[in-house]
Amino acid sequence: MAVVGGGVVGLSVAWRCAQRGMSVTVYDNGRGAWQVAAGMLAPVSEAYFGEAELTALLVASAGQWPAFAQELAAHGPTGYRSEGTLQVALTQDDLAEAQRLWEYQQTLGLPVTRLPAAELREREPSLHPRLRAGALAEGDHQVDPRRLVTTLRTAAGAAGASFVARRITDLPSVEARAVVVAAGCGSAELTGVPVRPVKGQLLRLRAPAHQPGFQHVIRGYADGRKVYLVPRADGEVVVGASEEERTDSVPTAGAALQLLRAATDLVPELSEYELVEVGVGHRPGTPDNAPLLGRWRDRVVVASGHYRHGVLLAPATADAICELLVTGEAPELIRPFSPQRFAEGG
Ligand code: GLY
Repeated sequence: MAVVGGGVVGLSVAWRCAQRGMSVTVYDNGRGAWQVAAGMLAPVSEAYFGEAELTALLVASAGQWPAFAQELAAHGPTGYRSEGTLQVALTQDDLAEAQRLWEYQQTLGLPVTRLPAAELREREPSLHPRLRAGALAEGDHQVDPRRLVTTLRTAAGAAGASFVARRITDLPSVEARAVVVAAGCGSAELTGVPVRPVKGQLLRLRAPAHQPGFQHVIRGYADGRKVYLVPRADGEVVVGASEEERTDSVPTAGAALQLLRAATDLVPELSEYELVEVGVGHRPGTPDNAPLLGRWRDRVVVASGHYRHGVLLAPATADAICELLVTGEAPELIRPFSPQRFAEGG
């Protein structure tokens, strides 16, 4: 079989399929949303109104992550961290908006614990003293996508997968009995599935002495602006992300300004950190924000359109696509996400 796309999803599929004894070739053009992804594993803090079916898939995949990370640890680092995520609100208006979402998350039975401002600052003293309140999503963890991809390549290689550095422009040129298209935004051109690029800009900062002053992932509302802060063990802090219906890869001053304003409103000491990188990438978005997982045409299977959730959904996607290839049947978990929902007459 062939996997078109050497990002987090493609490599996870390749790894699992090679482990099941399939002969696997990964075609990789060296690009991918993982290069700029923050790596949040956030089934709770990314649970939005009207997406209950998607949230169930996010929760299922999050449940697989600890074992997935542990198995990968034999092949290299993934940067997996499990401190949890603090959701915080700066102003009264921010709190009103955040509370609506936290209530919704709680009605879905997701683990969200409200925290008054004093308790937030007990957990993370570097948070701004003006913060109104917050909520802890204990099950929302993180990995470092750049380390993860290197380790997944090693793991897939160790399981027998081979790699070809080539950009695939048409599927007939790929010789294989089954082709899994995990090419992110490139999947549209290859197959005709409705995936569109959603531009995201993020910043990488470096903490003095390589010690960020906070341990949890922090997601905040700051004067109407949304931002997330992801601290890594090596001192990096990722600040993200814009969300723009644009195809260009130009880093803009406006996006950087908005992110830094919101970030320093929540954690003032960030203004002393080194600004290392402005990253621009494109999330593979779909018309209903849910991924495309399953058979498309003949020998072509799609594992794409993961939008904001590629890293989180990698373990569930890999197992389900592997199962589909072995048995010919899509497992129950991914049936609502069949790409056939967008096929003509589908
Ligand atoms: N999952 C975070 C983002 O897409 O920005």
